[in-house]
Amino acid sequence: MYLLRELERKDLEDINRWRNDQKLIEQLGAPFRYINLDVDIMWYENYLANRSNNVRCTIVDEKDSFIGLVSLTGIDYLNQSAELHIMICDNKNQGNGAGTFAINAMLKHAFNNLNMQRIELTVLESNHRAQECYKKVGFKQEGVLRNACYKNGKFVNVYIFSILKEEFCETI
Ligand SMILES: CC(C)(COP(=O)(O)OP(=O)(O)OC[C@H]1O[C@@H](n2cnc3c(N)ncnc32)[C@H](O)[C@@H]1OP(=O)(O)O)[C@@H](O)C(=O)NCCC(=O)NCCS
Repeated sequence: MYLLRELERKDLEDINRWRNDQKLIEQLGAPFRYINLDVDIMWYENYLANRSNNVRCTIVDEKDSFIGLVSLTGIDYLNQSAELHIMICDNKNQGNGAGTFAINAMLKHAFNNLNMQRIELTVLESNHRAQECYKKVGFKQEGVLRNACYKNGKFVNVYIFSILKEEFCETI
């Protein structure tokens, strides 16, 4: 069983450890950086100061053990849209349904509580698992940003996916 709860200060050591994991970061659009704990503390403080336009949740199991993060950023109340980000950190926790659960729970929050009508995301062309997971919960691919991301010494394509409120079929 998985749960979402708002990101807490006590999660920062786990997050910092995983943000320094090159294998995990390879799968994300963000570049790998060496990040010390103070940087993540500042990132957390910045989140607390900007909660009205961002939702950051920790994905935990029934023992409150850290599994990953799922977030909505850039919440735009005029256009009723936001961007979704997710990472299930340890590969032993991947492929067990945590991603599907967390994305569905965050979409439910976005559409039913925050009055969003569109959620979008970007994903590396090479990240087939993430693309399959997004399609499973109802996202559609909208386009390709050619050579939009510099990863491991080369420019790679990035796909844009989105889901509209009326397409969301809650499966949790
Ligand atoms: C991508 C990610 C969120 C998926 O979550 P997950 O918990 O691993 O995936 P789930 O177990 O919920 O599986 C959902 C679907 O993904 C697909 N999938 C899962 N593992 C897969 C694999 N190894 N290869 C291809 N597709 C796979 C399947 O379609 C699966 O549905 P099914 O179980 O009905 O067949 C997660 O693996 C992750 O965070 N990975 C590392 C970081 C990352 O890639 N983040 C996304 C950046 S855009």
